[in-house]
Amino acid sequence: MIQPKPEITNITPTYHGAFDYDELRQLGYSPDEVIDFSVNSNPYGPPPGVREAIARVPLDRYPDRECIALREKLAAQHHVEIENIVVGNGTAELLLLIALTFLHPGDHVIIPDVTFSEYERVASIAGAAVQSLTWTPENGHSFFDPQVQMRDAAARFAGVRLVFLCNPNNPDGTHLPASWIIEHWLAKHPETLFVIDEAYANFLLEPESAIEQMPPNLLAVRSLTKDYALAGLRLGYAVAHPEIIEAVCRVRPAWNVNGLAQAAGLAVLDQDCWLRETVHQLHDDKRQLVTGLRSLGLEPLPSSVHYFLVNVGDGAAFRTKLLKHKIMVRDCASFGLPEYVRIATRTPEDNAKLLAAVEMIRA
Ligand SMILES: Cc1ncc(COP(=O)(O)O)c(C=O)c1O
Repeated sequence: MIQPKPEITNITPTYHGAFDYDELRQLGYSPDEVIDFSVNSNPYGPPPGVREAIARVPLDRYPDRECIALREKLAAQHHVEIENIVVGNGTAELLLLIALTFLHPGDHVIIPDVTFSEYERVASIAGAAVQSLTWTPENGHSFFDPQVQMRDAAARFAGVRLVFLCNPNNPDGTHLPASWIIEHWLAKHPETLFVIDEAYANFLLEPESAIEQMPPNLLAVRSLTKDYALAGLRLGYAVAHPEIIEAVCRVRPAWNVNGLAQAAGLAVLDQDCWLRETVHQLHDDKRQLVTGLRSLGLEPLPSSVHYFLVNVGDGAAFRTKLLKHKIMVRDCASFGLPEYVRIATRTPEDNAKLLAAVEMIRA
């Protein structure tokens, strides 16, 4: 029997937030009746006009392979050229393409941990040697204090081909200023490619991006899936110098972004005001939710975005109990944080249901 490549054999399945449809089927739940706090998308979306835009897409015609119209709009938004942008079937596809484009077997990759599991998976698929940059309280720093913890990290980047950094980070929502990362990391290691995942940058109250400075060793990835609640379509893009983008495009499958996603992207990019208003609303909603959780004896960790971690003692048990009330949170055992759950703020109505369910399970 033919065997896969050895580097593939060692790759274990990754665990993510969002519905596990098989689990819902086994519980006899329809996805419509479960409130999902495990996915960090904008709960107010999709914005008006998206459904109408996708309804007009001809289904019998191939989409634009080059996503020209979408790249033009994205380029205008970021004050760059379309040659600086590649669009993907979600950010997750771009992460894989980036790994396949830039990593040779054995290359050293650094991933600050704990973080989104896809970085390690895609680097392993490319055969790279992954080193986690992990901090523990024994290092003398508190666990969730990235700026302190990362100050010394740059010394470890010598000889490293690629660094993945999630900013703001998943799962804890901590954020490092882009100018700080560029000054302390990118400028000091021009030979290393820094892939900065800004999937949640738009959820900051005052969004900022490494793209504004665009050093030559930056590859920024962004997700429209999260900002505009397009998880059923998926849409992401990467921004970098044209030589980097051109290389990724050589690996990219033809027609990788379907016509519905492109139409949705064009529709949402006219909705910047909607995005800023809903993000401000979400931060207000988060404050109320955090207050409610505190009144039930829980202590959410500080975060810069709408999702946050909460130590509940046994994250898996907490999730299972809430699921009986048709509420899903993200158990963080797969991040190596079994005591924690991650909760993404939703609308006040949904948040009230979460608080009521938490009160019942802790009674
Ligand atoms: C940090 C981060 N990046 C990327 C993604 C994937 O986003 P997309 O739907 O655009 O592929 C996720 C999804 O959970 C994420 O948490």
